[in-house]
Amino acid sequence: MNIIVKNDYEELSIAAAEYVADYIRNNPGKLLCFAAGDTPLGLLRELVKMNNSGEVDLVSMWYVGLDEWIGLGYEDKGSCKQIMFDNFYNAAEIPDNRIMVFDGKDIDLDGQCVRVDNFIKQQGGVGLTVLGIGVNGHLGFNEPGVQSDAKSLIVNLDQITCTIGAKYFSGIICPSKGITLGLGHLLNADKIVLIASGEHKSEIVRKSLKDKINTNIPASALQNYLNLTVLIDKEAASKL
Ligand code: F6R
Repeated sequence: MNIIVKNDYEELSIAAAEYVADYIRNNPGKLLCFAAGDTPLGLLRELVKMNNSGEVDLVSMWYVGLDEWIGLGYEDKGSCKQIMFDNFYNAAEIPDNRIMVFDGKDIDLDGQCVRVDNFIKQQGGVGLTVLGIGVNGHLGFNEPGVQSDAKSLIVNLDQITCTIGAKYFSGIICPSKGITLGLGHLLNADKIVLIASGEHKSEIVRKSLKDKINTNIPASALQNYLNLTVLIDKEAASKL
């Protein structure tokens, strides 16, 4: 595990974008997976800038969405789809046929899992995954207690996820279920970058990286993963 600590969110975002850009240059045509949420927004902005100035070719890659709130789609503020399309896929003009995301509005959610699992298989697995971390240690929507080898799965969201998730939504009640790539996909990626920013993430960063691996802290499973880069700012690193 390689832990890199940056001074602040801006520096962290630039370093993460440079890491992803290097991966893209060395692995054209591979499958990338990004967490939505607030933390990756700076990194996504930097990557779009690099794409527009010709420093990296985002259109040469394939993309799979990490997760989605069940019942939400692009038109719902705070959905993972809206965050990713507005801040990244559309901003970089990545064609739709290069992107696979969960449809949180489909009534056949098991079918969604199969569709995404098949896509990942066709692509030869995930190349690089960029993950954020919830204050309860979730990765994607792999909530405390999750199975460590699951592929795509439907989950009941933890109360903490729903409470904190309210920050993404205006006026709608936080969904109680999510659909997500399981740890079985995430831990099979060639490389993982975990990003975290802010004092409020410091305790869970410490528990995930330093405590004994346990399913109540899903992110602790990353300790077993060899190609892990942890990119965090000073505040998130303050309890390490
Ligand atoms: C969202 C996702 C979540 C977030 C986590 C942190 O697609 O995968 O696991 O990464 O909840 O969210 P932020 O970055 O908003 O603190």
